[in-house]
Amino acid sequence: MRIDIVTCLPTMFNGFIDQSILKRANDKGIAEIHVHNLRDYSTSKQKNVDDYAFGGGAGMVLMIEPIDRCIEHLKSQRSYDEVLYMSPDGERLSQTISNGLSLCENIIILCGHYKGVDERVREHLITREISIGDYVLSGGELAAAVVSDSIIRLIPGVLSDETSALTDSFQDDLVAPPVYTRPAEYKGWKAPEILLSGHNAKIEEWRFDQAVKRTQQKRPDLLKEE
Ligand code: ADE
Repeated sequence: MRIDIVTCLPTMFNGFIDQSILKRANDKGIAEIHVHNLRDYSTSKQKNVDDYAFGGGAGMVLMIEPIDRCIEHLKSQRSYDEVLYMSPDGERLSQTISNGLSLCENIIILCGHYKGVDERVREHLITREISIGDYVLSGGELAAAVVSDSIIRLIPGVLSDETSALTDSFQDDLVAPPVYTRPAEYKGWKAPEILLSGHNAKIEEWRFDQAVKRTQQKRPDLLKEE
C-alpha cells in the first residue's frame, strides 16, 4: 500500500513516519507513506497556498490551484483508490472504515488547514471525507496520522503477530479483554489463574466473557441492536 499525504505542514509527520509502526511497515516493504508539501506546488513567488475567503470573514482558505497541481501530479504517476479529505464534518472514522481502506492499493490524504479548503476541491477532487471525531483540530495532519496508522497496522505482515489486529477492540463490536504479564503476583495483586492454566479453550472462553462484560460496562452502545 502507498499513502500520499498532501499538507502545508510536512514536518509534522517526521517523528510519526520515522518511529511508529509505519517505519516497520516501510522497512518490510509492505507500506510506504510519502508526504508532499503543498508549497512546492504553489505558482506564486512567495509560495502562498492560502488566501482570504471571498465574501470576507476571519480565517484563510487553502487555494485550489496548488492542491489540484499536487493531486494531478500524483495521479499522473499511478491510479488511486481514494482521495481522502480530513475534515470535522466528514464521515466519522470507525474500525469498519479502516478495515475497508486497508484493502486499497494507493490512497491520497489531503490535510485541511486554517478555515478549510476552497469548496471546489471537495466537489471535484475528493472521493471521501473523514473525521476522527466531533471536535475541531487546528489542521488535518493529526487526523491523517490517525487514519494512516489505523489502516497500515491492519495490513498482514505489519504487526509481528498477524492475528493481533483481529483481536483489537471494535473488530467484532466488542472492546478487548484485559491482558496481564509477569509477575503473576505483584503486591498481592494476582493475575487471573485461568490465564496461567495452559488450557487454551478455557482461556478463549474467559477472554470472550470478559470482552462482553467490559463492553457492557464501558461501551454499552456497541451492544445495542441496529
Ligand atoms: N480537521 C480538523 N478537525 C478534524 C477532525 N476532527 N477530524 C478530521 N480532520 C480534522
